[in-house]
Amino acid sequence: MLNVAVIGSGTMGNGIAHVFAQYGFPVTLIDLNLDNLNKGLATIGKNLDRQVAKGTLSEDDKTAIMGRLRPSTSLEEGVRDAGLVVEAATENVELKLTIFRQLDELTPAGCILATNTSSISITKIAAVTKRPESVIGMHFMNPVPVMKLVEVIRGYATSDAVTAQVMELSRQLGKIPTEVNDYPGFVANRILMPMINEAVYALYEGVAGVEEIDTVMKLGMAHPMGPLQLADFIGLDVCLAILRVLHDGLGNPKYAPCPLLVNMVMAGRLGVKSGEGFYKHT
Ligand code: CAA
Repeated sequence: MLNVAVIGSGTMGNGIAHVFAQYGFPVTLIDLNLDNLNKGLATIGKNLDRQVAKGTLSEDDKTAIMGRLRPSTSLEEGVRDAGLVVEAATENVELKLTIFRQLDELTPAGCILATNTSSISITKIAAVTKRPESVIGMHFMNPVPVMKLVEVIRGYATSDAVTAQVMELSRQLGKIPTEVNDYPGFVANRILMPMINEAVYALYEGVAGVEEIDTVMKLGMAHPMGPLQLADFIGLDVCLAILRVLHDGLGNPKYAPCPLLVNMVMAGRLGVKSGEGFYKHT
């Protein structure tokens, strides 16, 4: 089995490590902060417990999965034997460029360098490495153990062979991969974020209240969550950052973030992670 290294043990990183380990891959979960690493492992344990409680995994499966996860606080040591690295660090361009420069030096030749970025250009990230043909987007959806999609994003130079390998690896995780090209927001967020932004505009303009807007979309369109609840779940700061990438990258005023969203982010109302967004989260 291919050795997998996942960088970042936050919500997305621990979810990605969870599914690779669940489907038999040895995984090194890397986070430079030991507290975050321990929190990430504890979250994987809790999410596996849900699967055990449901009867889709046994206690023995859980033990085996946890046994395939190796925590590390060293990038150098953690990626040394990797065949695939999936970077799921904070969504910050400079941070990602720094990590990819290091990965290019530290990983074996032939190692695929994937990023879980939700909107940063794959082509830009690939350009800081000497192997842009091996750099690709592997965009998982939250919660990773539950959501079926992997948006596989080809950068300008990503090779056919690397794309095919990442599509196949995604299938081996029980996911449905979908190949898309590298333009702002890719497909998922190019379509999702304008919907969320429009819901915020509807609130801002007094068309309806928070619960009414979400109820219309949940019951009227069979969405599992209303757009404002989903924005809280994703993080309002993340939604705003992605809208800015769409607005800057596509140059169309229709992507301009609603002033209410901007104000809420400035006020620290970020959704679930801060305890309050459109809803209160205890
Ligand atoms: N790990 C493992 N299992 C989990 C889990 C996790 N982290 N979170 C939830 N589950 C399981 C539960 O055990 C439950 O399983 P069963 O139905 O088989 O019993 C199932 O998922 C549903 O969970 P709940 O009953 O707790 O709650 P729910 O029915 O309200 O569903 C939800 C929760 C799956 C999150 C659902 O509300 C949903 O699909 N919401 C929309 C999610 C979405 O749109 N995600 C994409 C966000 S965008 C993104 O990620 C990318 C980006 O770039 C911004």
